[in-house]
Amino acid sequence: MSTMNYWKYASYPTVGLTDRTWPDKTITKAPIWSSVDLRDGNQALPIPMSVDEKVEFFKLLVSVGFKEIEVGFPSASATEFAFARKLIENNLIPDDVSIQVLTQSREHLIRRTFEAIKCAKNAIVHLYNSTSRQQRDVVFRMSREEIITIAVAGTRLVRELKEASGNPGIRFEYSPESFTGTELDYALDVCHAVMDEWGASAENKVILNLPSTVELSTPNVYADRIEWFCRHIKDRSAVLFSVHAHNDRGTAVATSELAMMAGADRIEGALFGNGERCGNMDIIIMALNLMTQGIDPKLDFSNLPHVREVYSRCTRMTVHPRHPYSGDLVYTAFSGSHQDAISKGMKAHKRAPDVWDVPYLPIDPQDVGCTYEAIVRINSQSGKGGVAYVLEKEYGIQIPKWMQPDFGSVVQEVTDRTGDELSAEQIHELFQKAYIGGAKPYLMKKCTISWSDEDPDRNDEVATLVSSSMVGPDGEFSFKAKGNGPLDAFVRGMTSHTGIGFHVDEYSEHSIGHSSDALAISYIRLAFDDGALVCGSGIDSNISLASIKAIVSALNRYKRS
Ligand code: KIV
Ligand code: ZN
Repeated sequence: MSTMNYWKYASYPTVGLTDRTWPDKTITKAPIWSSVDLRDGNQALPIPMSVDEKVEFFKLLVSVGFKEIEVGFPSASATEFAFARKLIENNLIPDDVSIQVLTQSREHLIRRTFEAIKCAKNAIVHLYNSTSRQQRDVVFRMSREEIITIAVAGTRLVRELKEASGNPGIRFEYSPESFTGTELDYALDVCHAVMDEWGASAENKVILNLPSTVELSTPNVYADRIEWFCRHIKDRSAVLFSVHAHNDRGTAVATSELAMMAGADRIEGALFGNGERCGNMDIIIMALNLMTQGIDPKLDFSNLPHVREVYSRCTRMTVHPRHPYSGDLVYTAFSGSHQDAISKGMKAHKRAPDVWDVPYLPIDPQDVGCTYEAIVRINSQSGKGGVAYVLEKEYGIQIPKWMQPDFGSVVQEVTDRTGDELSAEQIHELFQKAYIGGAKPYLMKKCTISWSDEDPDRNDEVATLVSSSMVGPDGEFSFKAKGNGPLDAFVRGMTSHTGIGFHVDEYSEHSIGHSSDALAISYIRLAFDDGALVCGSGIDSNISLASIKAIVSALNRYKRS
């Protein structure tokens, strides 16, 4: 038996639209964006922004490319009023940007709102009143007709004040607030009455904003409502349909996207989804979702860390580490299989850079101003491929495939034991400690290599001579040995002096760095007569010495094991 009180809740009505067309539509262009950060976002903050903070935030929104910005509810507080005036009087509003101001449908508030926008070149007066059954019955105790009268009276006053202002740059937006709780046919009646009063036409459009004031159902039902509305509105050409989705069910982005497919022209939302309760629709997510489909989002989020910094400072809100596109961990893989796929994908991307196609990364972090640095991070969940990726990216050390399991287990031992994440620097230290510079029991004090005088290109058993001074478990010793190359000669010399039987099973080398002082690094796997396979590595400016050091490294690891 369920312990949850599910029986307290009623299911949300569906629209009954059987011939819906939106599921077959795709989004092909960005909507008209409207930021409500400075109004809806601000009114939801424990400590609302000061005028100076709002100015800084406004400038950020302008720099990102918003052309419609709801700057506040000027009739509601002195700060909001002062902010609107500051923007206008200090010429902070670019000519191609419209400020938007919210007002309830009440005479004194509408009049005060017009005072706030005096001399603004472009402004949208956003009028709202609540229309839902719940608010009519519980909050206002008013009939359907009385609610329509409020909307129409407000619209009339806005029209008259616009006419009196003589400002052609004033536009009108109407929101039947709590639209998601409003019967569709009734919401349509309210909007038709508002359109009539406004004299809406193709030349004098009204913005009808149909808010998901409280998110009450799945996005598909909301999309049905928008398609139904677009079909039933009396003059579609006289209307810009706008959507303002809150995130109570965590689906505000999907709601807005599906609403666009259903006919919405304009989208309201806020950066990082700030806003009442669970927030407004996150415009960054929706814009970058468009970008990942190859659509120009018409907003510039190429420096997301900067946007986030200004946002966090002005609002005192944090961004969750898993927040889509913006969180600290969203471009990071800890798990071995993901790291392996990403590392292969990044290599493939270098070869074919035109279209982004890297597993687990729907977007190139560099396109939003992030680096590749944090893509692969190492903890106990990580694999050898991830460890190799970090060493290669940060230190140019390209551990060969056959050696990766060996170093992977060195790292795994530490992460399992400590439970901690390892930085690139710590991984590098582990590599150095495991392979480079080990001096026990064997230390190579000196080694010279010479080639046969007669023919330097000779490549037979006696072509190369290695003379080496060593320290071993029983003290110093030295040898001269010949071979078909430095490695071969050194192996022969060491075997005859130590009695340890081994041969080179795998070998690879490359240079680190590009300048004239570049170093060479060698990787080696020795196969010992007792069946042990042991890896080693050596670094030197001389490639032959690097490979001999790699043998000493493997011998020491064999002896210690
Ligand atoms: O969420 C809402 O309905 C609003 C309106 C004022 C548009 O913020
Ligand atoms: Zn809202």
